[in-house]
Amino acid sequence: MTTQKTATLGFNGQSYEFPVLSGSIGPDVIDIRTLYGKTGAFTFDPGFMSTAACKSSITYIDGDKGELLYRGYPIEQLAVNCDYLETCYLLKHGELPSKTQYDEFVKTVRDHTMVHEQLTRLYQGFRRDAHPMAILVGMVGSLSAYYQDSLDITNPEHRTVAAMRLIAKLPTITAMAYKYTIGEPFMYPRNDLDYSSNFLHMMFATPCEKYEPNPVLARALDRILILHADHEQNASTSTVRLSGSSGANPFACIAAGIACLWGPAHGGANEACLVMLEDIMKQGGVEKIGEFIAQVKDKNSNVKLMGFGHRVYKNYDPRAKLMRETCHEVLNELGLQDDPMFKLAMALEKIALEDEYFVSRKLYPNVDFYSGIVQKAMGIPVSLFTGIFAMARTIGWIAQWNEMIGDPEQKIGRPRQLYTGAPQRDVKPMAFR
Ligand code: CMC
Repeated sequence: MTTQKTATLGFNGQSYEFPVLSGSIGPDVIDIRTLYGKTGAFTFDPGFMSTAACKSSITYIDGDKGELLYRGYPIEQLAVNCDYLETCYLLKHGELPSKTQYDEFVKTVRDHTMVHEQLTRLYQGFRRDAHPMAILVGMVGSLSAYYQDSLDITNPEHRTVAAMRLIAKLPTITAMAYKYTIGEPFMYPRNDLDYSSNFLHMMFATPCEKYEPNPVLARALDRILILHADHEQNASTSTVRLSGSSGANPFACIAAGIACLWGPAHGGANEACLVMLEDIMKQGGVEKIGEFIAQVKDKNSNVKLMGFGHRVYKNYDPRAKLMRETCHEVLNELGLQDDPMFKLAMALEKIALEDEYFVSRKLYPNVDFYSGIVQKAMGIPVSLFTGIFAMARTIGWIAQWNEMIGDPEQKIGRPRQLYTGAPQRDVKPMAFR
């Protein structure tokens, strides 16, 4: 990966050379690992605007082109030709599965869909009005207390079992969090159903009535899961890697990722987007869009158009295009094309796509703008949107965590800082302070 290219840095009257590394595609990186040793200086890059924190062969994004590849395959092809578990296999193993490999993978996931019965009682420790993400952080972290036979991160078999448990149990844990907050009995997994249909069953079935998942909605959910499965070194994935770099167990690391995902600038955006739409509806709906957009443009208002903009995509998010398609399919299937909230969303999208403020800043609708609308139409409560994102992203976190554990160059993550506090000083006795 080292090229003949080097980068030269002039500092304090001296010149220093650093190797340049090239990936298979994408920008080169300047290898500054020896910078501190050679110069005594650190780099300063809050928010990692120009820093590659690791090597990875899992996901590639070209934000300017609006391109997203999982293991080299364009997201557009995966979303149309594969299901979520095929995508999980691809992210985890690096290749798409053969029929035999796929069947075996699906069977293993099915073998792990139930959770330890004691864990189902843990929910009762939470308030009924707890946010599902609060419950998920706790429940997923607690898996390390229940599955102690898969915590040895140096043992590849333990790592595989932990990974399969996480993929299989996240839907069960997420659906149970929902059932708990609405006071309905938990629905155990149905292993005769596919992954997404089973999730709909655990969410919406009750023991009193027969429930058959709607295949259009199951397909829409599967697409949401595929589109959210990985997104290279985003905030929650970097959190999982950083947590894992200390040797923490996978369940604890994924719980850390879920905590990070919860924030409104990341996975919480789809929830924040729906809350925004509900607020505009309360203020008068489509008629009030003009006023709302004026607030968004006013830098003193602190109002953002949620579901728009992305740190990496400065073009249309390729996932948003696919999700937009699914959004219309679901609205048609459910006869919701004329629902006032969805009309508002479509009007907002149109205005923002034409408005100079958004166009000049390359602010396009992101995947969460549409995934929130789809989930709302499917009857998923707004507070669970980020939980579903967590369910989808679990495979990405696992794949990235596994890659890190297997990397011989892996070190504990330890950023440095530019210290701006008081220089050394002496403690005065309290009477003199
Ligand atoms: N509404 C209004 N203005 C915006 C928005 C927005 N949603 N996003 C960015 N801007 C403005 C920002 O104020 C700045 O303007 P100016 O140049 O005049 O100061 C300019 O656009 C550039 O923004 P930035 O803050 O440099 O962009 P960033 O890369 O730091 O932020 C972001 C990316 C996603 C945090 C931000 O766009 C945002 O908060 N969007 C809304 C939340 C959202 O939808 N997040 C989900 C991201 S997709 C899910 C995921 O992959 O995790």
